[in-house]
Amino acid sequence: MFVRRIAVVGTGYVGLTTGACLASLGHRVVCADVDALKVARLRAGQVDILEPDLADLVVAGQSAGRLAFVEGARHAVAEAEVVFLCLPTPMGAGGAADLSAVEAVAEEIRGVLPYGAIVVCKSTVPVGTSVKVAELLGREDVAVVSNPEFLREGSAVRDFLNPDRIVVGSDSPQAAERVGALFTRLGAPTVLMDAASAEMVKYAANCYLAMKLSYVNAVAELCELVGADVTSVTEGMGYDKRIGQSFLKPGPGWGGSCLPKDTHAMVRIADAVGVDFSLVKATIETNARQQQRVVEKVRRAVGSLAGARIGVLGLAFKAGTNDLRDSPALAVAELLAFEGAELVAYDPEITRPLVGMTVVDSPYTAVRGADAVVLLTEWPEFRTLDWALMASLMSGSTVLDTRNHLDPDALTRAGLVLHGLGRELRVRDEAV
Ligand code: UDX
Repeated sequence: MFVRRIAVVGTGYVGLTTGACLASLGHRVVCADVDALKVARLRAGQVDILEPDLADLVVAGQSAGRLAFVEGARHAVAEAEVVFLCLPTPMGAGGAADLSAVEAVAEEIRGVLPYGAIVVCKSTVPVGTSVKVAELLGREDVAVVSNPEFLREGSAVRDFLNPDRIVVGSDSPQAAERVGALFTRLGAPTVLMDAASAEMVKYAANCYLAMKLSYVNAVAELCELVGADVTSVTEGMGYDKRIGQSFLKPGPGWGGSCLPKDTHAMVRIADAVGVDFSLVKATIETNARQQQRVVEKVRRAVGSLAGARIGVLGLAFKAGTNDLRDSPALAVAELLAFEGAELVAYDPEITRPLVGMTVVDSPYTAVRGADAVVLLTEWPEFRTLDWALMASLMSGSTVLDTRNHLDPDALTRAGLVLHGLGRELRVRDEAV
C-alpha cells in the first residue's frame, strides 16, 4: 500500500475518526480545526466525543508520529497529497444544507494546496457541491472527489475500519482511483462513480434508512390496534434477505445529526428539480407524528399532563452517544414540558442543565414521586435497574418503554404496569 500524506480539515466526529483511522492504516495525517482549544486538547490525547476506541487511536497515532493536530486548515494542507474536508453542513434556511464552512475552507486553502493535490468532500453535501468546490478552488491541477461517510455515532471507528462499502466519486477517474486506494487495506467493495452519483448515494441511503424506520413505527401503531406484536412482526419480516433484520426497531422517532438533516435536504434537492418527493416528506411527517404519539400515550397514562410529574429515562438520540442533536427523546421531553408536565430526567451521559426539565444524576432520583415513567433512549443499564426500588419510589405505576427495551417480567414482578410500542393488546390495555 502507498503511504500518503493526508490532511483532514475539521475534527468533529467524522473528521477525527477519519484522521485517526487513516493514521492507523499507516498514512501520515495532519488534522486541522479552527478551535485552538480543541487542537490543544487533541494534542494532549483528550477526545471530547464519546466514541469507542477513538481516544486510543488518537494517542497511538501521535506516539507513532503519523498523526498531528494543527490550528487552521492552511497549515494542515501545505504538504498534503489528499485533503479531506470533514466540515459541518447543518440544516440551513428552508431545509437546505448550509455550505458556508465548506466554502470558507475552500477559499482558505486554494492558494496553499500543493500542485496536483486531491480535495475530498466527506461531509454530506448536496449534489453538485464537488463541482462548486472545484470552481471555488479554481485550480486546474486539483481534482475534487466525493467520498461520503457512513459512520454511525457510537460505532464510528468500527464502521470506518469495517465498512460495508467505500464510495468514491469524481469526474476525474484517476483521482477517484487514488482516493479509493487509500482504503485498500480495509478489503471492502469499492464503488467508483462520478461525483454527482457519489453525493446522491449518501442522501439516497440515509433517506431509505429513515423511511424504513418511519415504516416500522407506522406498522407498530397498527400492531397495537389489531392486537399484533411488532417484535414478532419485524423478526418475521427481517428473515427476508431483501429486508434484513437491522434498522427495524420502533422507537420514539429517528433523530441524530444525519437522518433529519439529510431527509430535509433530499426534499429540497427534489424540489429544486421540480419533483415532489412525497415519499420522503411522508417519512418526515410520520416521524413527527411518532413523537406526538408517545406524548399521547404518556397523557393517557396520567390523565392530564398539566402538573403531572414524569420521570424521563434517556435523552440522547440513541444509546452509546452523548449527542442531543435532533434527539427524539429531547423532542418528546420538550413536548411533555410544553403541556405542563414536570419532568425529572436522567441520562448516563447528559449532566448539563436543560431548559424545561430537571436533569439528575441517578435514575432513582428521576422517578421519585413520578406519576409515570417514560423510557426514551435504550441505554443497556436501564434493563438492570432495581425495578422494585423504582416502583417503591414512584407515586404512579405506569412505565412507558418507547424502545421495547425493558424486561416485562422484571417490571411485572415489581408491580409496575409496562407499556411498550407496537406490542400491546388492545383488549388488555384499554387505559393506554
Ligand atoms: C446515521 C447512519 O446510520 C449513518 O450511516 C450515517 O452516516 C449517519 O447517520 P447515526 O445518526 O449515528 O447514523 O445513527 P443511527 O444508528 O443510524 O440511528 C439513527 C436514529 O434512528 C436514532 O435516533 C436511532 O435511535 C433510530 N433508530 C435506529 C431506531 O429508532 N430504530 C432502529 O432500529 C435503528
